[in-house]
Amino acid sequence: MSFLESGQSRPQLTQLERQKPPVFENLLTALHNAFSRTAIMQSLLFNGTPHQSAGSSVLVNGDCFDWMDHQAENLIHAVVTDPPYGVKEFDADQLVKRASGNGGVWRIPPTFDGHKRAPLPRFTALNDAERIRLTEFFVRLGHSMFRVLRPGGHVFLAGNSYLSQSVFAAICESGFEFRGEIIRLVRTLRGGDRPKNAEEEFPDIVSMPRGCYEPWGLFRKPLPKGMTVSECLRKYQTGGLRRLPSGGPFNDVIPSERTSRAERDIAPHPSIKPQSLMRQLVYAALPTGAGTVMDPFMGSGSTIAACKALSIQGIGIEASKEYYDMAVKAIPKLAKIVVSTSVREHSKPSLLPFFDDQTQ
Ligand SMILES: C[S@@+](CC[C@H](N)C(=O)[O-])C[C@H]1O[C@@H](n2cnc3c(N)ncnc32)[C@H](O)[C@@H]1O
Repeated sequence: MSFLESGQSRPQLTQLERQKPPVFENLLTALHNAFSRTAIMQSLLFNGTPHQSAGSSVLVNGDCFDWMDHQAENLIHAVVTDPPYGVKEFDADQLVKRASGNGGVWRIPPTFDGHKRAPLPRFTALNDAERIRLTEFFVRLGHSMFRVLRPGGHVFLAGNSYLSQSVFAAICESGFEFRGEIIRLVRTLRGGDRPKNAEEEFPDIVSMPRGCYEPWGLFRKPLPKGMTVSECLRKYQTGGLRRLPSGGPFNDVIPSERTSRAERDIAPHPSIKPQSLMRQLVYAALPTGAGTVMDPFMGSGSTIAACKALSIQGIGIEASKEYYDMAVKAIPKLAKIVVSTSVREHSKPSLLPFFDDQTQ
């Protein structure tokens, strides 16, 4: 069982480090990490915002824009986050509608085979004004993240195939380089239906493709002019992505799975992401293994739990008190989840499993 699966931390060695005696190299890594952690923690500013520590991480109950805009520049090594994608789905009025089963932006799927499925946000229902709000939100997010990230720092931003083109362009307005997308292969339960109210007339038609992936935008704060990646790695511990524990390159397609029942029971947040995915992303986000990962939209804490599982320092910010309290309780439990190996063993994407006819 690898440490990514078990939640146990094991430092990954670079080629150079492999040539040093292990005791010396472990000591150096530990000292460097401890110094870097303390320095970052000491420079965080809270201005009365409620917060608490969770192991080496810190959890903040507040608005991420306010919080980021009060921090020092060039502080954080990476951002791994899953934002409110249509922006309005986590507004208080929409959450009340979701809880009451009255929809709003949340589509309440029909019961299937006796199983009640969770509501999904209806992103195609955004009107022009909401699209403008969405663009403004992500331009603002881009600016706030750009300030606090170190040069060369990466952002992994969970996306959605309907809106990613607007969102990714908005993020780049603040100066980020677009470094492509990570494709999480997962059945999303979107699309794949016959035309509504004409299912019998058009039995061979789908209105739109069935969703089988989740795009994650990958962005990098540019390296200082003239600086190489190796110089950036030495100076800021940023600029690249960490290779897989096997030594292979980090891939931009990740065979994944839907969040397990066990994880959803621990943290019943509508958008909780699986540990099997989050641990891979958090691991890749810190190229030298040192540094701090921030999740400005922490939700129930799956990013910070992944950090905890890998002994990485995280900063999680969540506006909702309900979800913040959920994260405080869930993080230690999620961090102990043992993730299944079967998904990660497919190191090469395979088409075949996606041509079957499963409905979940
Ligand atoms: C898509 S969810 C993230 C779920 C998370 N990935 C998890 O595993 O639970 C987005 C979260 O961002 C929070 N949020 C929305 N606006 C925020 C803001 N301005 N500052 C901080 N959190 C915010 C919402 O309350 C919601 O919990």
